[in-house]
Amino acid sequence: MSYYRKFKIVIGTPLWRVYLRWAYEKCIDDLSKLNFVPEFNRKNFTCLLCGVGNETTADEFIKFVIAKNKKAEIIIVDIGGEQIEAVKKLIHNKYLFFNIQIKQINALELTKLLRHHSIDWIETDGFLEYFDTNKLNTLLDIWRKILKLDGFITIRETASNSFTGRIVDHIRVWIAKVWLGVTIYIHTKIKLEKMFHNNQLKFVSGPTWLPTFRRYSLIKKERNAKR
Ligand SMILES: C[S@@+](CC[C@H](N)C(=O)[O-])C[C@H]1O[C@@H](n2cnc3c(N)ncnc32)[C@H](O)[C@@H]1O
Repeated sequence: MSYYRKFKIVIGTPLWRVYLRWAYEKCIDDLSKLNFVPEFNRKNFTCLLCGVGNETTADEFIKFVIAKNKKAEIIIVDIGGEQIEAVKKLIHNKYLFFNIQIKQINALELTKLLRHHSIDWIETDGFLEYFDTNKLNTLLDIWRKILKLDGFITIRETASNSFTGRIVDHIRVWIAKVWLGVTIYIHTKIKLEKMFHNNQLKFVSGPTWLPTFRRYSLIKKERNAKR
């Protein structure tokens, strides 16, 4: 069974949909703690779902965005072919008349697809752990580049800060390797937050339903500076 099919057992369930709806709302609400109000209704509002995983996530994300702005431009990417094919089928069957672009691409090459300062919102879940420290720094730099000055990012990530958390992390890495056949990397809460800071991103964070998984809402530090 492929990675896509195996992972669908987790992220293709109704419970995953409920979790995502909660996570999107919560992360958007959190932005107010940074004195930031996202303008979903603005003309040319453009958002990126980075590492879609499967069509269930795509469906929830699209529903969430078009409920706020029917004309929003939605870009969905993943490195996996099966993930992209499944999302294309969903769009064809359900969202044909919306402004949605789907692309199979490595997120580390996003600047080949997207212009600098072109994205209002970047969203993903459980994605940063696919990158080692160097590549994660590159990814954060790329996200910063494609994000508008007043753009924002919402993510949920494993960010452990305890001994038990670290044990859970190692078990997760092992399960990912043995069951899913992928290599994921551990980033502790302290390390992750330092990397956000070094990449000029301000953030607010909180817990999620899962023990070592935290939610983050991020904006550019220089948002208030003149262009
Ligand atoms: C945990 S799943 C994503 C779950 C999804 N973000 C959600 O909210 O339900 C991770 C996805 O990231 C994709 N991925 C991993 N490395 C990637 C990369 N370098 N570029 C783009 N996608 C990548 C995988 O193919 C996989 O589909």
